[in-house]
Amino acid sequence: MKKDKKQNSKEKLSNNFLKYNNKEINVLQGFLSNRKIQKIVLLGYMASGKSVLGNELARVLNYTFVDLDTYIAKKEKLSISELFAQKGESSFRKKEFKYLKKLLNKKKTIVISLGGGTPQIGGAMKLINKKSLSIYLKASTQTLYNRLAPETTERPLLTNITEDFLQDYIQIHLEKRKKYYEKADLSIVVDDLSVHEIIISIIKEITLKLGM
Ligand code: S3P
Repeated sequence: MKKDKKQNSKEKLSNNFLKYNNKEINVLQGFLSNRKIQKIVLLGYMASGKSVLGNELARVLNYTFVDLDTYIAKKEKLSISELFAQKGESSFRKKEFKYLKKLLNKKKTIVISLGGGTPQIGGAMKLINKKSLSIYLKASTQTLYNRLAPETTERPLLTNITEDFLQDYIQIHLEKRKKYYEKADLSIVVDDLSVHEIIISIIKEITLKLGM
């Protein structure tokens, strides 16, 4: 099985120890335990930072971290690119939903980072919002383009998109997906924010919007 780019960035992150103010983390932990929330689901377009944030959020909360793509690849013993190439996108989407349901039904505290296309699977957002606190990592087309341009060959949906069409492709594709992403409980604008700043923004949003 080939190693995805995401797995490499996760390995780098394990060396990254960020300091948090205990009070901030207590607010988040208090909110989750008061509402008996066992799952946090991170969603957003490719390269919006779901896996990197998920890893760190799980570490500070002492939750397990699961990246849905990595989980699927492990269970199916094929990389995501191989699954797309050998079985096609619709077969991949069926597997994606099957494994998402499996994770959401586990009796464990888990931070799950989705694939960029998971929220548009029929019924997925309804289930996600029933079973978890869902957070949309909202990045601009420009940010996504800057991050995706160097790595299109590793992403099955982008392999045939030429460099000069990439920015338009992202804009059109994101526009189509926005209505699913915006069903999340929280939306956090992540452009230019560090992982630490995103976590602080999540805590602020929880305090403001969800009535802590
Ligand atoms: C996809 C996003 C990918 C992966 C697959 C399809 C999409 O995950 O699930 O290549 O449809 O946007 P990331 O968003 O983690 O890159």
